[in-house]
Amino acid sequence: MQRRTHWDRIYRTRLPGERSWTQRRPASSLALIHAARLAPDAQILDAGAGASHLADHLLKAGMRRLTLVDISAAALREVKKRLEPSGAGVQFLRADLTDCRLDQKVDLWHDRAVFHFLTRAADRKRYLGNLRRCLRPGGFLVLAAFAPTGPERCSGLPVRRYSTAGLTRELGPGFRVLRRLSEQHRKPFGGTQDFVYIMAVKKVGVRLSRRARRMSGERLQPQLEPFSEHAL
Ligand SMILES: C[S@@+](CC[C@H](N)C(=O)[O-])C[C@H]1O[C@@H](n2cnc3c(N)ncnc32)[C@H](O)[C@@H]1O
Repeated sequence: MQRRTHWDRIYRTRLPGERSWTQRRPASSLALIHAARLAPDAQILDAGAGASHLADHLLKAGMRRLTLVDISAAALREVKKRLEPSGAGVQFLRADLTDCRLDQKVDLWHDRAVFHFLTRAADRKRYLGNLRRCLRPGGFLVLAAFAPTGPERCSGLPVRRYSTAGLTRELGPGFRVLRRLSEQHRKPFGGTQDFVYIMAVKKVGVRLSRRARRMSGERLQPQLEPFSEHAL
């Protein structure tokens, strides 16, 4: 089944309380984002945002420029509806982060529970290409994935589990890790999942090698769809 169809089906058929990853308050993400002390007009991109409540909390905290990217239009429609009318300025983008070229410049890139689904090296390279291209030098990354003690599968899909050192290795030399934390996420229907988080800053003045540019997938053609209510 296509990734997009898979995730659309999940969001259409499971209520928020039936999705293991749902958090009413994404406390670890918020703590790390607030630690970056961004100005209210800083640009934040939530990669694989799904129907996360992160945007609700960031808007309440005064952050105005949010971009929510997800492969599932059903997820984006759910969060768009929930955010009305406060989310008027939020940008929604339906895209596969392993099969698109994002060019938007951002001050912070957030990913909770998306990167760990990228079990193929080629997909990780393309995802990281988008991250490196979009994140401004000096910009922040908050990346959360299942810990080595976390689940081996989620939503019927295999995952790669990471230690904080493993996540750091994936990023390569262009990032400096500032904070690391682990979290035992309580699933809404009981039970827990172990996560690790890192917060990193993109180093200033690191030139990408030709190989790194090739790895960053710059030749990929854009396949982006600004989300609309009619996206389905
Ligand atoms: C486990 S959910 C996490 C959602 C959200 N980050 C949160 O913490 O609530 C994984 C999300 O990643 C999205 N996703 C999976 N693969 C993706 C890809 N290749 N590109 C963009 N989004 C993707 C799914 O649609 C889903 O919303």
